[in-house]
Amino acid sequence: MTFEATHPRFGGGVAAGSVRIFDTTLRDGEQAPGAGLTAAEKLEVARQLARLKVDVIEAGFPAASPGDFEAVRRIAQETKGGIAVAALARCRDGDPQRAVEAIGVAERPHLHLFIATSDIHLKHKLRISREQALEEARRWVKWARGTLGPDAEIEFSAEDASRTEDAFLLQVYEAVVEAGASTVNIPDTVGYAIPSEFGALVGRVVDRVGRDATISVHCHNDLGLATANTLAAVQSGARQVEVTINGLGERAGNASLEEVVMALRTRPAQFPELAAGVATEQITPASRLVSYLTGFAIQPNKAIVGANAFAHESGIHQDGFLKNPLTYEIMTPQSVGLAGSTLSIGKLSGRRGLQGKLRELGHEVEGEALDAVYRAAIALADAKKDVTDADLLALVEQRKADVPRSIELLGWNISSSSGGHSVGSVSLIVAGEAKAAHATGNGPVNALFGAVDEAVRPILGWHPVLTEYEIKAVSAGEDAQGQVLVRCRRSSDEGAGALVVTGHGLSTNIIEASLEAYLVAANKLHGAEINGIEVAFVGRRTAEELP
Ligand code: KIV
Ligand code: ZN
Repeated sequence: MTFEATHPRFGGGVAAGSVRIFDTTLRDGEQAPGAGLTAAEKLEVARQLARLKVDVIEAGFPAASPGDFEAVRRIAQETKGGIAVAALARCRDGDPQRAVEAIGVAERPHLHLFIATSDIHLKHKLRISREQALEEARRWVKWARGTLGPDAEIEFSAEDASRTEDAFLLQVYEAVVEAGASTVNIPDTVGYAIPSEFGALVGRVVDRVGRDATISVHCHNDLGLATANTLAAVQSGARQVEVTINGLGERAGNASLEEVVMALRTRPAQFPELAAGVATEQITPASRLVSYLTGFAIQPNKAIVGANAFAHESGIHQDGFLKNPLTYEIMTPQSVGLAGSTLSIGKLSGRRGLQGKLRELGHEVEGEALDAVYRAAIALADAKKDVTDADLLALVEQRKADVPRSIELLGWNISSSSGGHSVGSVSLIVAGEAKAAHATGNGPVNALFGAVDEAVRPILGWHPVLTEYEIKAVSAGEDAQGQVLVRCRRSSDEGAGALVVTGHGLSTNIIEASLEAYLVAANKLHGAEINGIEVAFVGRRTAEELP
């Protein structure tokens, strides 16, 4: 018996027996404080989501900034293979037009309209009545259906649905479906719901409009219940789930893609074949990429993608696991892309060997990108005894975070001793001009960052300001590569709205890795300034700051 046979209420454009996986890492996930990505980085994530074979990529909120518009447009242009590209828009003049402009080029455009419906949002945020909210929702859905035509996917979200009065919520959903919405989304915007209650709410919406529209859910994790609420919703007939890689998102984040998908897969009796399309072996590469580019580390005990998710420490567990892995593993590491690899890479390895190895690790790398990783891997094999899987993954990631450079390093020097100050000097090309500078600091990294500041300030009118610095060893051993993450803003930018960017550096020399990370961040800040939309950031703005 199929799930639908026991739950006759499902509808819209989702194939029977499946749940549409709607990934919002690039929209809601990117709204996490400090998770800002460049347009090029968003494109990298979108490519990985396509390899993961999600059904919908929500690429951004085009009205939020020219950077987000450009990122959505580029993702819409590039994404093929039946994957829809969604853009978010408020029910307000200007937003839907901008979103349609951005996704118009997509093979499968998916417009996502929203307006708040709870009394608390209507009274204090929007300052409009229920009737006005209903009217705006109806008006913009109707406009979208008229503009995009009969086959387009038009989704409507009632923001803060789980705290909206039931009768009004159902009235809104009925009105928007009548106006042409093909999907209605039920957001638990502030992560307030609990599974039994949320499942029942979804059931009522399915009963009311489920024959004419796909029912979707969007759960936040403020009480740690986002995955549980999402699964309860699926059992009540929801046929689209909105999720993010690593559960990234506003505040405590969104329901995590890897948890929801692997729950659907691991418990087929509960959810028969509902997430069959996802290439789950791409989960680990996707998780690493998002963590790397956003600079948000994954907690070791995070379900599915944490470093300890498949580690068995205690003797009893190890004994049972060795006798039969099923004693302590409910899914295999291979099923989520944690394959143990067999090839090793050394100085004499060829490009094809490297390509095969990277494929085993879940990365399809070719052409110029392969050449770059190959050159770096061979150089590393000179500097280090064993080039490990972790080293190769770090090299691939470093290349993915590459940025156009207007500030280039020509050389550096440091003198540092116990008890004394460090003195660092750098020579750079800054916007085409050669510049050398030196500075003192309380340590070698501090002195070199100061020297960079001295060199760039007279030419750019600002210098990077370090807001965060992290260093970790990529692998074990004294010749391990150091991977450095920095976050920086411009000295001329202050306050909550300041653009904050990440920079990464990778080297067996941690001073060099630090300098590299600082210069990547400086280049991103300069790129955002001079090139505008080309490398613009998808800045976060509050509702008040939005146009
Ligand atoms: O959390 C939320 O309510 C949202 C909507 C815009 C879907 O992100
Ligand atoms: Zn949300």
